[in-house]
Amino acid sequence: MYIHTIDNFYNSQIGEYDKLENNKLKVLGFAGSLRAGSYNKALLRSATDLLPEDMSLEIFDIDGIPAFNQDIEGDIPPKVKEFKAKIREADSILIATPEYNFSVPGVLKNAIDFAARPYGDNPFDGKPVALMSASIGLLGGARAQYHLRQTFVFLNMYPINRPEVLVTFAHDKFDTNGRLVDDTTKTLLRQLLQNLANWTRKLK
Ligand code: FNR
Repeated sequence: MYIHTIDNFYNSQIGEYDKLENNKLKVLGFAGSLRAGSYNKALLRSATDLLPEDMSLEIFDIDGIPAFNQDIEGDIPPKVKEFKAKIREADSILIATPEYNFSVPGVLKNAIDFAARPYGDNPFDGKPVALMSASIGLLGGARAQYHLRQTFVFLNMYPINRPEVLVTFAHDKFDTNGRLVDDTTKTLLRQLLQNLANWTRKLK
């Protein structure tokens, strides 16, 4: 009898836990850099430790998405198919991007372009999105962020405006293991994720 009661207690606790897990907002994150030691990949990993309780983050590696060719957009490669499915399943999107030549890296733009095709099959449509960037330079990738925001207009995404997470002099903000060690950046990133959670719940 006693054991039975304990069992019931634990089952109800597990039930509550499952409910919490199932109600979590699902965020899909991807970075616009392919390199293993990327600061932007590190920034995305750091987000995992700073999420609000009601949010989960899955990180997708865009490495392997081939160059977009409109001739094959009707028969999309498996990696793109997988990417599109993950975008569709997600409640919102989190992107970390470097700035290349004052703009969005080709690999990131290519991945977004491929995922949004063929016309009329855009999984980004209506998704909230949060954006951040890390650069070894003075402006932290601001120009790439603004170019990407222009793309969000066509994709019909709903970006978070503030805070702007621009990680300047990234080499000083991460340790040699790629762990974020800058408290100001951590605070901004935590706020960005909380705002993404609030925004996503509002739009749902
Ligand atoms: C850069 N970098 C760079 N930084 C910046 O602030 N503005 C820029 O326009 C550019 N342009 C640029 C072009 C190319 C081709 C490369 C490879 C680099 C430097 C960039 O901030 C730095 O390499 C970052 O470390 C790239 O991000 P990940 O790979 O660390 O995430």
